[in-house]
Amino acid sequence: MSQRTLVLLKPDTVRRGLVGEILGRFEAKGLSIVAMELRTIDGETADQHYAEHVERDFYPPLRAFVTSGPLVALVLEGDEAIEVVRALNGATDGRKAAPGTIRGDLSLSNRENLVHGSDSAESAAREIKLWFPDVP
Ligand code: CMP
Repeated sequence: MSQRTLVLLKPDTVRRGLVGEILGRFEAKGLSIVAMELRTIDGETADQHYAEHVERDFYPPLRAFVTSGPLVALVLEGDEAIEVVRALNGATDGRKAAPGTIRGDLSLSNRENLVHGSDSAESAAREIKLWFPDVP
């Protein structure tokens, strides 16, 4: 079933010059780019995006990180896109993520883990509306 998912190439991706490498993996897999924008977000937007995490101990440094510089927000579309993107991304902690995944190949951090992908159909709908309210 074709789905859409919200992906962030976080500020570490942009700082490290990995946008092309990571975008290339999604494109090579066969996912389509429906919307894409380079954006620097403020703390309130971070709070909305990570609403389920704002009370967690790890949230204050995560908030500082995601607002620390430009990121690339995009909507990807394709068959089972939500699960497919999460599989390509790999486990949250780059140190534990499997080789062959984006985080497993390119990240050594639990926080600066390069990418975000929506974790469910409900999250995808909410996040796409938050980041791209004008995308039909
Ligand atoms: P993401 O997939 O965007 O969802 C929540 C983010 O919080 C996660 O990627 C990491 O960037 C960050 N995160 C999750 N757990 C931890 C943790 N234990 N320590 C630091 N950062 C975390």
